[in-house]
Amino acid sequence: NGLDQNALKKMAAEAAIKYVEDDMMVGVGTGSTVNYFIAALGPWRARIRGAVASSEASAKLLRELKIPVAELNDTGGCDVYIDGADEATEHLALIKGGGGALTREKIVAAASRKFVCIADKSKLVPVLGKFPLPVEVIPMARSYIGRELVKLGGAPELRMGFTTDNGNLIIDVHNLAITDPAALESAINQLAGVVANGLFARRPADVLLLAGPEGVTTLNR
Ligand code: A5P
Repeated sequence: NGLDQNALKKMAAEAAIKYVEDDMMVGVGTGSTVNYFIAALGPWRARIRGAVASSEASAKLLRELKIPVAELNDTGGCDVYIDGADEATEHLALIKGGGGALTREKIVAAASRKFVCIADKSKLVPVLGKFPLPVEVIPMARSYIGRELVKLGGAPELRMGFTTDNGNLIIDVHNLAITDPAALESAINQLAGVVANGLFARRPADVLLLAGPEGVTTLNR
C-alpha cells in the first residue's frame, strides 16, 4: 500500500511504547525515527522516572514535552534504551552514527538493561557495510587511523566540517562488507585514537521492531 517511509518509522516508534513501564528510566536515542518515539512518550511524562538523551537535540524535544531529562551518571543506568539505526541485520547487529552521535549512543546503550531498536524495513540488510561505517577519532590520530582503516579493507573519508559533541572528528568508512561485525568492531576499537565506532555487534540490540507495509515485525535476540 501507500505507506511512506515516515509512516513506517512512526509505526515502529509507536510499537516501542509497549516496552515502557511505570517508574522506568528510559534511554532515548537520536534521529527521525526516535522523534516519533519521543512524541509517543509525551503522555507517559508523569509515569516514568525520567529520560536520558543521547544528544542535545533529543534532550530539547523531551523538555518541550515536559518529560524530565536526567544525566546518565545520576540514574544507575536505564531500564530500556530506544534508538534507531542506519542498518540492521536479522541477528540484530547494527550500524549507527549517521548523525554523528555514536559515542553517546553507545554509552547509553551499554548502560541500559534492554536495547530496543526501531526502524523501517529499508534498514534491514543481509550484510552490514553499504552504509559507510562512522568512526569517531581524536583529531591528532586522524591520518594514522585513516591508513589503518585502509589496511582493514575500507575506504575512509573524513566527514568535512563536522565536529562531534565531544570535540572529535568522524571518519566514514566506505566499501566494507562486514561479515563478522563483532570482530571488526573490536579491531577498530584497538586502534590508538579511536573513541568509538558505529558497529553495535558486541552489544547488539535485544529487540528489533521493523515496520513494513504489512505491520511491525518483532525480532528478538
Ligand atoms: C544517529 O547518530 C544514528 O545512529 C541514528 O540512530 C540513525 O541515523 C537513524 O536515524 P533515522 O531514524 O533518522 O533514520
